[in-house]
Amino acid sequence: MYTKAMTLLLICLPVLAWAEQDTAKLTAEGKGVIKSFFGDLKGELVKGMKSGGPVHTINVCNKVAPNLSEAHSQMSGWQVSRTSLKTRNPKNKPDAWETQVLNEFETRKAAGEDPMKIVKTEIVEENGRKVFRMMKAIPTAEVCTKCHGSDIAAPVAEKLDELYPEDKARGYSVGDLRGAFTLKKML
Ligand code: HEC
Repeated sequence: MYTKAMTLLLICLPVLAWAEQDTAKLTAEGKGVIKSFFGDLKGELVKGMKSGGPVHTINVCNKVAPNLSEAHSQMSGWQVSRTSLKTRNPKNKPDAWETQVLNEFETRKAAGEDPMKIVKTEIVEENGRKVFRMMKAIPTAEVCTKCHGSDIAAPVAEKLDELYPEDKARGYSVGDLRGAFTLKKML
């Protein structure tokens, strides 16, 4: 007997399969955008630390990070930036979806997931438009603790106080989640 449910199934299954395939493709694309943004960011960080140390590199992070975020967004057609539950720059503050995902990442890490691989994707609706959203966790490495750790050298702390009076991004240990890359693509 041919039922309504069967009709629905016939219509919905291909749509679901398409959506899954599409998500996989978008996720791969998003990972590529992160890789290239992160590559440039890390390059600048390493170069700055080598040539001038952390105080000099704060200026690099302060100017270069937002510029790179802008440049990579324009190049890729994605919006790409960084966020955290404890931001240094208030411009990087998470929205409601990002806050929820950052909390979920903490839970997933606590449950034993490899922080290098924690990713979340979702298709959401914003102002009547479908948007693909993606986040990827950023763990804290040794070098990060010079500016995000609990034992920050006095000249570094002074410079941070001057540039970021609302700084919350301190007190991190190696392996903690420092934040996440956050991406959006209009569908
Ligand atoms: C030389 C100091 C310095 C080092 C080292 C450093 N950061 Fe930062 N970090 C900053 C500054 C300054 C900002 C604010 C950038 C801005 O104004 O957008 C920042 C911002 C961030 C943000 C954006 C969210 C926020 O808090 O505003 C993330 C995520 C982040 N850093 C992660 C890292 C990670 C991971 C490392 C190690 C690989 C690292 N940082 C190393 C100085 C540093």
